[in-house]
Amino acid sequence: MIGIAVNGAAGRMGRTIAAIARDLPDVRIVGGSDRERLDDEAAAAAGFPRIVASADAASVVAEADVVLDFSSPAGLLALLDAPGAPLAGKALVVGTTGLGEAQLERLRAAERTMAVLVAANFSIGVNLLLALAEQAARALPAPAYDVEIVEAHHRRKADAPSGTALALGRAVAAGRNASLESLRRDGRSGQTGERPAGEIGFHALRGGEVVGEHRVLFLGARERLELAHVATDRALFAEGALVAARWIVGKGPGAYGMAEVLGLTAKGEG
Ligand SMILES: NC(=O)c1ccc[n+]([C@@H]2O[C@H](COP(=O)([O-])OP(=O)(O)OC[C@H]3O[C@@H](n4cnc5c(N)ncnc54)[C@H](OP(=O)(O)O)[C@@H]3O)[C@@H](O)[C@H]2O)c1
Repeated sequence: MIGIAVNGAAGRMGRTIAAIARDLPDVRIVGGSDRERLDDEAAAAAGFPRIVASADAASVVAEADVVLDFSSPAGLLALLDAPGAPLAGKALVVGTTGLGEAQLERLRAAERTMAVLVAANFSIGVNLLLALAEQAARALPAPAYDVEIVEAHHRRKADAPSGTALALGRAVAAGRNASLESLRRDGRSGQTGERPAGEIGFHALRGGEVVGEHRVLFLGARERLELAHVATDRALFAEGALVAARWIVGKGPGAYGMAEVLGLTAKGEG
């Protein structure tokens, strides 16, 4: 039986993970943490035996084999810096997106002592799409083919472009032996001038209850290739995160990705 704790337990993903884990015979949700402690009734309604404040995560994490983080960049830092170093000896699966240098630096340090898996998207389809985007970028080089990445999400999403869109951009850049940082262009407005060769454009739509849609366009002079993925239920991500959680238990210190979990070969994940 694998003990799982969730940081961001009271959120949409936290509740979905708890609901799915309830039906899995080899998994036990030991508790959660969030911005604030929830009373027992509210925690039970969210599917957790208890939910404490992230700063008090040590008491919950002590019972877990693996911790899943679906909170926010600040929430992840609160977990990593919680008093009592609660994550020592545990495995960590991070689904939170919009991570900045502060979070990435702390994760790199954590990887030296524990198994850490970071994935902007836990769906098998998106992880296959990462591999396909890298392959297509290699076969359809710049400047003959321009790449634009369009994504859509619900109105409450906090970060843009999505972590998955950026992972797709990294996969395209890897297929062209380049790094995304030098090619990234977020949206266009005003007197933009001619499109620079090799640029990778990102466009984020926000509204309604869209779970998550990503489209990678390779635009040539006489043809256009489009690779697209549509998620219709966030349970998809929760299921994938639980697959990752079972996979990572018992792994040695280091950085892991969904490509390894799923036996795929994409290099753009992150
Ligand atoms: N990798 C994937 O496949 C995948 C799929 C879906 C979502 N995500 C990502 O997962 C994250 C959570 O998504 P969601 O839709 O579940 O969001 P959500 O509904 O807003 O849930 C996040 C939870 O974390 C809490 N939180 C935020 N900041 C915190 C802090 N500083 N300390 C402690 N707790 C904090 C929130 O509390 P408050 O409500 O008080 O802020 C909320 O309860 C986002 O980054 C999202 O992009 C990833």
